[in-house]
Amino acid sequence: KRPAGAPDKALARKVTKVGIVGAGLMASQLALLFVRRLDVPVVLTDLDQERVDKGVGYVHAEIDKLLAKGRVNQDKANRLKGLVSGAIDKAEVFADVDFVIEAVFEEMSVKKSVFADVEKVVSPECILATNTSSLSITEMAADLEHPERVVGFHFFNPVAVMPLLEIVRGERTDDATLATAFATGRSLKKTTILVKDSPSFIVNRLLGRFMGEVGRIVDEGTPVPVADGAFAGVAPMPPFMLLSLVGPAIALHNNETLHRAFPDRFYVSPALERVVAARKSSYYGPDGGIDPEIEALQEKP
Ligand code: 3HC
Repeated sequence: KRPAGAPDKALARKVTKVGIVGAGLMASQLALLFVRRLDVPVVLTDLDQERVDKGVGYVHAEIDKLLAKGRVNQDKANRLKGLVSGAIDKAEVFADVDFVIEAVFEEMSVKKSVFADVEKVVSPECILATNTSSLSITEMAADLEHPERVVGFHFFNPVAVMPLLEIVRGERTDDATLATAFATGRSLKKTTILVKDSPSFIVNRLLGRFMGEVGRIVDEGTPVPVADGAFAGVAPMPPFMLLSLVGPAIALHNNETLHRAFPDRFYVSPALERVVAARKSSYYGPDGGIDPEIEALQEKP
């Protein structure tokens, strides 16, 4: 059955090679998903060789895990590893890609400049997908020569496990782009839904209310472990584990975007701002308990 709002799949273009901008954890998870499900060459790109090597190394290690679990055989594992490569200079490796997805820093100016650079080296029909979790697709595409090939393609952590893919149509996204996005999402074995180009789309807008309220409860004096414990058996993971999985900086950015759009409904936690300023990536220490430095950051300064 055709998902609501999806154009005729006959309009979809074939994806034969994928370019990924960024080689961080999200980008590497995307590389693994694309190579595994589409079985086409996937090139990860980033600003320096160390990041690129780390990204490709992650994908290879995850393919080894799939092999160990018997999800792929040795031949397939070897082929998939051979299909994943990395590069710093996009000009050559992106010349023949037909689908680019960016997973770089969640900042409009950064995403715009990435797409402006990519547009110089890809064919005019190449899809430019963004994994933005909150930003406007219309605005991201506005200054491009071909804004009609920009589409939101929003995955959830952990990418290999979470079934949903939010597909976002910008004001100028054309039907061929949207049809290709839906066909690709289906090939990736994700549940695709078309969502409006509004701040944080659907899931992160709902999560923003939930996480904002949890942040408020803790800011009012409830200790983090107590708030975490209150969700035992209710949510698939405790709220601060979810916050650590998503990344405090991304969660804060999401809340700020939503607060700007709907100031009366979304809360930006000062404690979360302190956690991000301290560059903490997780609420938990190596022993699995709440990191004592985080507890200290919860106190009012
Ligand atoms: N990375 C990769 N794979 C993972 C993983 C991770 N971080 N965590 C778990 N998995 C895999 C496991 O390897 C296992 O795979 P297998 O079946 O092949 O062996 C499978 O997931 C199940 O793992 P567990 O048995 O440990 O399962 P759990 O019951 O603990 O579930 C979970 C793990 C699915 C992550 C569950 O805790 C969950 O659903 N948590 C909520 C996640 C969520 O809400 N994500 C959305 C965040 S919002 C977001 O991402 C938006 C963005 O824009 C910020």
